[in-house]
Amino acid sequence: MSNFANLVVDESTVILAIETSCDETAAAIVMGGNDVLSSVVSTRIDLHAQYGGVVPEIAGRAHLDLLNPVIAQAIRESGIDERRINAVAATHGPGLIGALLIGVSAAKALALTWEVPYIGVNHLEAHLYAALLDDPNVEFPMLVVLVSGGNTLLVNMESHGKYSIIGQTIDDAAGEAFDKVARFLGLGHPGGPAIDREAKLGDAQAIEFPRAMLHDGFDVSFSGLKTAVVNYVRKNPAISTQDVAASFQTAVVDVLVAKSVKAAQHIGAKTIALGGGVAANSLLRQEMTATCTQQGWRLVLPSMAMCTDNAAMIASAGWYRLLQDGPSELSMGAMPNLKLTDRTTS
Ligand code: KG4
Repeated sequence: MSNFANLVVDESTVILAIETSCDETAAAIVMGGNDVLSSVVSTRIDLHAQYGGVVPEIAGRAHLDLLNPVIAQAIRESGIDERRINAVAATHGPGLIGALLIGVSAAKALALTWEVPYIGVNHLEAHLYAALLDDPNVEFPMLVVLVSGGNTLLVNMESHGKYSIIGQTIDDAAGEAFDKVARFLGLGHPGGPAIDREAKLGDAQAIEFPRAMLHDGFDVSFSGLKTAVVNYVRKNPAISTQDVAASFQTAVVDVLVAKSVKAAQHIGAKTIALGGGVAANSLLRQEMTATCTQQGWRLVLPSMAMCTDNAAMIASAGWYRLLQDGPSELSMGAMPNLKLTDRTTS
C-alpha cells in the first residue's frame, strides 16, 4: 500500500466516514471538511427499547446487516463516483467494542481496496466538529458544551484541532442522568426525549431538586440529583410524573447553563457551541439562546441531526486529522475506552 507521501488535503478532498460506536449505523460523504454531500443514519432503536437500553450484541448484529447498504446509500446520495473518494474515516473509539470493530474493519477494507488513506477518528473529537458543520465560520476561542449519553465535557477550543478540557462530570453524564431518571419514572428508552416531552406538560417549580457543585469550579455532578429524584418519588408516590420530569430537567439545565457561563467568562469565549445528544433538549437550547443573547456571545446550536450520532461529524473531524497528522496506521485497532485528551498544538 502507498505511504501517501504526496498527499494533499484541501477543499476538494472527499472523505467517506463510517460511524458504528453505539446503536446508530451511519455513513457520510463530506468534501473539504464541512461540505456534507450525503449523511445517512440508520438506527434500530426499536430493537433495544424493549430491553430498556442498548444491548451490545444486538447493536453489533444490526451494524453487520445495515452497514453495507448504508454506505452504498451515502455514496449514491452524494452524487459522486466512488473513485472520487480520497480517504476513508471511521470512529475507532470510544464505544462498544463489537460495534466499533465492524466500522473500523469496513473502513480499512475500503481504504485498502481503493488505495486511499484510512483515518481513525475519536468520536468525542467529532462531536466538537458537529456544530461547525452547520456553521463553519465561528470565532475562537469557542466553548464547546459536549453533553451526551456517555460524557459531559466543557472544552476550550482555541482553534481547529487545538483544545483543552476545562470541566467535566465527576460521576454520571447528563444524558445518563436523563436515561436513568426516565427509566425510574417508567418513561422508556431513550430517556432524554421522553423527559423533554413530559416536562412540557409539567410544572418546573413543583419540586426544588438540588443543583450540585453550582459554585465549585467547572466540574459538574448529576448522580446526587438522580438519587434525589428517586427518594422524592418514593416518599411522594402520588406526585405527577410531568412535574418530576419538568423539575428534574430544569435542575440539569440550570447547572449546565451556570457552568457554561462561568467557563465562557473564564476563557474569554467569543462563541459557545452545544454538542452531543442532550444538545437536542428543548429547554437547554432555549436557556442557552437567552443567556448568549444577554451576554453577547455567538451561540452555535447544531441541528437535531447533528446533535445525535452521525457520520458527517466523523468525516469533518477526519479531514482536520488528515490535514494535521496524516493517515492513521492500519495496525491501529478499535479503542472502546478512548478518552478526549487536550491537544495543545494545532
Ligand atoms: O450523543 P448521543 O447520541 O450518544 C452518545 O454518544 O452518548 O447522546 C445520546 C443521549 C442519550 O442519553 C439521550 O437520552 C440524550 O442524548 N438525549 C436527550 C434528548 N435527546 C437525546 N437528552 C435530553 N433531551 C433530549 N431532547
